Amino acid sequence: MLVLGVESSCDETGIALYDSEMGLLSHALYSQVEVHADYGGVVPELASRDHIRKTLPLILEVLDKAGKTRKDLDAIAYTAGPGLVGALMVGAAIARALAIALNIPSIGVHHMEGHLLAPMLESSPPEFPFIALLVSGGHTQLVRVEGLGQYTLLGESLDDAAGEAFDKAAKMLGLDYPGGPRIAKLAERGSARFSFPRPMTDRPGLDFSFSGLKTFTLNTVMEHKDENGQLSEAVAADIAASFQAAVVDTLMIKCRRALRETGLKRLIIAGGVSANTELRQALEAMVLKEKSNVYYARPEFCTDNGAMIAYAGCQRLLAGQFDEGGLQVRARWPM
Ligand code: KG4
Ligand code: ZN
Repeated sequence: MLVLGVESSCDETGIALYDSEMGLLSHALYSQVEVHADYGGVVPELASRDHIRKTLPLILEVLDKAGKTRKDLDAIAYTAGPGLVGALMVGAAIARALAIALNIPSIGVHHMEGHLLAPMLESSPPEFPFIALLVSGGHTQLVRVEGLGQYTLLGESLDDAAGEAFDKAAKMLGLDYPGGPRIAKLAERGSARFSFPRPMTDRPGLDFSFSGLKTFTLNTVMEHKDENGQLSEAVAADIAASFQAAVVDTLMIKCRRALRETGLKRLIIAGGVSANTELRQALEAMVLKEKSNVYYARPEFCTDNGAMIAYAGCQRLLAGQFDEGGLQVRARWPM
């Protein structure tokens, strides 16, 4: 079964072709980062308009790259939420219209299920059941996964998501959006000499809280500005390294607790923050001690992409699910 995947929930247009027998055939990604750069965040109206411009050309590009035409498609999967409603509507409308015109089924996919299943696109995918740490710009969740669609929420952030904390800390250090990769890069030149807190690790449970780290970052920045209000690059690098170490440590401690409490031996990490090298290394070291394994997608499939939507849609279709009619997207949607 050949499935076209369309992702348009935020500021990335991601398109991919996934074949249930052959695997991923082709994919393309267009990032709107430049479009929103001057505004300090994603502007929903501009995002929708840019998705309108890019979706069809990218669909033609991935078909062409795979040597396929639209007549070869068996189904179309698209992100139906959560995300920016206008941006979601563009991808959903194009995907549904194309499916109706081609007389093939379509399926609306949950964006976080896409992230969660992205490690399945790699060469040695984990078997069910496993623990999933979902860490993106909008979500921080620990989920027990028994199979496709069998998800139990074990814990989540009570305030900011991990990616959001990276983005906000980056802003305080004068770095652009998205902050995660920029903090990681700056941190390479610094040392984690400031002792940032590890929020909620000293009490039982699997919930997270990252808003305190934001305040701690701001206070540390203010304390170290010189008389001209400037922060030296060396101190900024140390703050970045200390902040990153705190987030990584906190995530590692909660993942270890989730493995121990459930007795499961497999951990997957997914979502934009799972691209973080320090996080991967900390989890690799932890699972070694716990006699467990950790799985993640290649960096380009950790952040938003079409491949994860094509894959998740394909699994849902193989399980006999598809859209029943109408066009529905959801800004908020529990998984
Ligand atoms: O999954 P994603 O692309 O979009 C959402 O669904 O939110 O995640 C984006 C988030 C941003 O907050 C970004 O700063 C963060 O993932 N991120 C990272 C890294 N790459 C992206 N955070 C830490 N380290 C990275 N290397
Ligand atoms: Zn995402």
